[in-house]
Amino acid sequence: MTIKIQKPRFQKSVQYLCGFILTSAAFLTASAQAATCTYTVINEWNTGFQGSITIANNGTTAINGWNVGWQYTSNKITSSWNATLSGSNPYTASSLDWNKTIQPGQSVSFGVQGDKNGGAAEKPVVTGSVCSATTSSASSVASSASSVESSVASSAVSSSVKSSSSVASSVASSTATGQQCNWYGTLYPLCNTTPNGWGYENNKSCIAAVTCSAQPAPYGIVGTVSSVSSAASSRSSSSVASSVKSSSSSVASSSIASSVISSVISSIKSSSSSSKISSSSVASSISGVVSLKALVDFPIGVAVGAGSESDSIINSSTATQQQAIAFQHFSQFTAGNIMKMSYLHPSETSFTFTQADELVAFAAQHGIKIHAHTLIWHSDYQVPNFMKNYTGDFAAMLKTHIQTVTSHFAGKVDSWDVVNEALAEDGDGAAVNGFRNSVFYQKMGLDFIDQAFINARAADPAADLFYNDFNIENGGTKTTNLLALVDGMKTRGVPITGVGFQMHVLLDWPSASTIEAAMKAVADRGLKVKISELDVRVNNKYNSSAPVYTSLTPSVAALQKERYRQIVAAYVKVVPPAQRAGITVWGIWDADSWLNTASEPDWPLLFDINFLPKPALQGFANGLTGSNQ
Ligand code: XIL
Repeated sequence: MTIKIQKPRFQKSVQYLCGFILTSAAFLTASAQAATCTYTVINEWNTGFQGSITIANNGTTAINGWNVGWQYTSNKITSSWNATLSGSNPYTASSLDWNKTIQPGQSVSFGVQGDKNGGAAEKPVVTGSVCSATTSSASSVASSASSVESSVASSAVSSSVKSSSSVASSVASSTATGQQCNWYGTLYPLCNTTPNGWGYENNKSCIAAVTCSAQPAPYGIVGTVSSVSSAASSRSSSSVASSVKSSSSSVASSSIASSVISSVISSIKSSSSSSKISSSSVASSISGVVSLKALVDFPIGVAVGAGSESDSIINSSTATQQQAIAFQHFSQFTAGNIMKMSYLHPSETSFTFTQADELVAFAAQHGIKIHAHTLIWHSDYQVPNFMKNYTGDFAAMLKTHIQTVTSHFAGKVDSWDVVNEALAEDGDGAAVNGFRNSVFYQKMGLDFIDQAFINARAADPAADLFYNDFNIENGGTKTTNLLALVDGMKTRGVPITGVGFQMHVLLDWPSASTIEAAMKAVADRGLKVKISELDVRVNNKYNSSAPVYTSLTPSVAALQKERYRQIVAAYVKVVPPAQRAGITVWGIWDADSWLNTASEPDWPLLFDINFLPKPALQGFANGLTGSNQ
């Protein structure tokens, strides 16, 4: 996949600059009631786009209920979130119950996704009775910044990973107010207009006040602190943080609200004096927290629940939060469960595709690809009962399974884990020739693997076909056996495309150099490499002398951030661009991780139990860009 970006032309820059000057003036003379309504293109790809519309209340009285509209020349909307959308060009969007009130100094954003319909991703003017200032200075700054960012990205399009060096430390607008966000010991600017989560304003990543103040003490919004990443300063700021938090749970805390206006004005001043942002400083400040998938041109995936699962990304109480993260950061889904054997083929004569079809369609509608998992897996509860006790022609039965499932999804999924976990663990006493003594191996020997790939290829000529396993990155006998397996398959002409390294790893094991060596050995064989199920547990239950964490302390979060960086960087380092099948995280948020249980709590993913980004997200992004911020 190639990231499509708009190449800003000189004309466009002039247009942005004029808009900027005019709207700066408009903002400065805005009435007490004025809100600014801004349309930002968050992301675009070959055929689609994602837009975000922000209504920022720059007046002095609250807005209670809003309704805004806009019109495209070509684009068409296919879905929206956080607003009720009506019409079909022009479109109107109205508030939902929970976001209808916008206090002075606060803003609300909602999202749309759609088809470009032959045009570019457009940036229409947003109008409405609340939009008296039409386009704010802040949004113009954001627009011009993103256009510069795009031009940088497009010039670097030949490189599959956009380069990133040190972060230019321009003064963030929020610093002028003396308030920043202490995020697990690192200071970030507070956002001026982004209502929730992480934002990107004035050419820098920022954290929304609501998100920042939701952090556990001693972190959160802090007063004037000049040094970044200083443990001492984060400790000394704790009382400020907690007093900000206790004074109000919302951004409407008057000190924050009034500071937003002054900080926007200060951002106008500082931006206008540096309106010629140098390409390199913008490129270097691209942060993964804006969007992981936008940083690279290989898939960045996530495992999701769907169908009747309680964590369904489509229909569950957490669907809205999950979707917001998924659409922003991920370009590929793997079903965490519903495309496994017993879900798709519960009895010999019945195949049940409804749940998987729904997920595949949902993903397609949102421009997200599917890596399908998995056609064969030994795991006891995932082997349909009829297969366990099968007395007929096992090879013929398995062929029907593979071909029926694979042909059903042909053209709709990009790739398959054809065989999952066939190799024995080191030390497995029941192993046969290095293979797990599964029903498949018992019935067919090694041929079950070869035939699975051959039959899958026959039913889907285009999908990439993977062998997927865990602990193959640790350089032990299992790694040796993996290499022998793929060498043998290649020699026998079995159509394997690549190897999926599950990578359910620990903070300190295996070492980065061991992981690198294993992935390189696969890449050296001309195969694609996928990190297919990445998560980083912080508790090591296999080592009784390892520390037991009962919460994600800042120091552990920092170790986890570094671990994510290290693994992602190792992948980018040793897997040549053409062989990068992508990196998938095994779940969106910690509460949903398969490794986080009541008896063994853990925090293995990129977003916390409140769907807030963890330092690990920055670590992942740093691994992609080569940065170390
Ligand atoms: C896990 C799922 O995440 C859990 O929800 C389920 O209870 C068990 O399976 N390796 C794999 C995945 O290949 O399919 C597993 O997924 C995790 C280990």
